[in-house]
Amino acid sequence: MSLPTHVRLIEVGPRDGLQNEAQPISVADKVQLVDALSAAGLGYIEVGSFVSPKWVPQMAGSGDVFAQIQRKPGVTYAALAPNLRGFEDAVAAGVKEVAVFAAASEAFSQRNINCSISESLARFVPIMDAAKQHGVNVRGYVSCVLGCPYEGAVAPEQVAFVARELYAMGCYEVSLGDTIGAGTAGATRRMFEVVGADVPRNKLAGHFHDTYGQAMANIYASLLEGIEVFDSSIAGLGGCPYAKGASGNVATEDVLYLLNGLGIETGIDMEQLLLAGEQICTVLGRPTGSRVAKARSAK
Ligand code: HMG
Ligand code: MG
Repeated sequence: MSLPTHVRLIEVGPRDGLQNEAQPISVADKVQLVDALSAAGLGYIEVGSFVSPKWVPQMAGSGDVFAQIQRKPGVTYAALAPNLRGFEDAVAAGVKEVAVFAAASEAFSQRNINCSISESLARFVPIMDAAKQHGVNVRGYVSCVLGCPYEGAVAPEQVAFVARELYAMGCYEVSLGDTIGAGTAGATRRMFEVVGADVPRNKLAGHFHDTYGQAMANIYASLLEGIEVFDSSIAGLGGCPYAKGASGNVATEDVLYLLNGLGIETGIDMEQLLLAGEQICTVLGRPTGSRVAKARSAK
């Protein structure tokens, strides 16, 4: 299969990147990050989550972040919603796009959202109905598509089942998450072959964590499978609180470098993106997880 000419990058740094941070991060710093990302040309930014603050304390102020960001025309500002309560809070905060999240493994589903896979899917149905009424788009996530921190191997057929259910209930796109970053290029291709037989490939996205250093190879493998949408996180921030040891998401700067090298358009400006990464790393007092940012600052 030939490579795409255009790829959409979904920036998950303010949500997936920051949700795992133990130190308090002010609303102003989160707002600055989101605004720096939109200034860099990202067309889709996951700003926060309307989840239980007991489960993920860092996302507690998401409504305030939404209230203060400068909405740039054409940019989608999205939030996670695990249940109807989260959806309603999101809508009240002016959110126009939400993401629901399920898992391909039962154990992870229990640890992350305290219910089984089938219970989670049933919980999303009223969200889909309410979303239709409010004109809100819903994206779907499947976690643990290339392995589970509790169960180990995950069959691609199980991923396909959950992805198919999310797509059938009205998610316009389903993002397949290698939550623990353990997948390899071969496994990635097989997984997309199997899932792609059930859900059109142009309705699928790849969400790679870089725990084992495989994310870039997995993205290239996904491109070869016809996938044209990828989730990534500025400065490689991130990790899921319910996947111990899972390190950051693949860095947006690094994915952009790969795509630029392939001549694939994204609409994102590397210099501005690097600035956004520098800013948030200063806030966190931590070196960047982006190899491109490291290489550039060493120059
Ligand atoms: P639960 O404890 O089973 O829920 O949690 P519950 O309905 O029994 O409610 C318990 C308490 O939470 C109640 O409060 C509710 O009001 C409150 P209390 O009476 O105890 O004071 N509550 C809420 N509060 C705020 N917002 C809400 C909400 N819902 C209930 N929406 C629940 C179930 C789903 C709520 C919980 O497990 C949860 O919030 N989980 C979120 C976990 C999470 O955010 N994980 C990280 C995101 S997923 C991820 O990172 C993976 C991804 O990146 C892809 C990948 O990498 O694979 C997407
Ligand atoms: Mg993730």
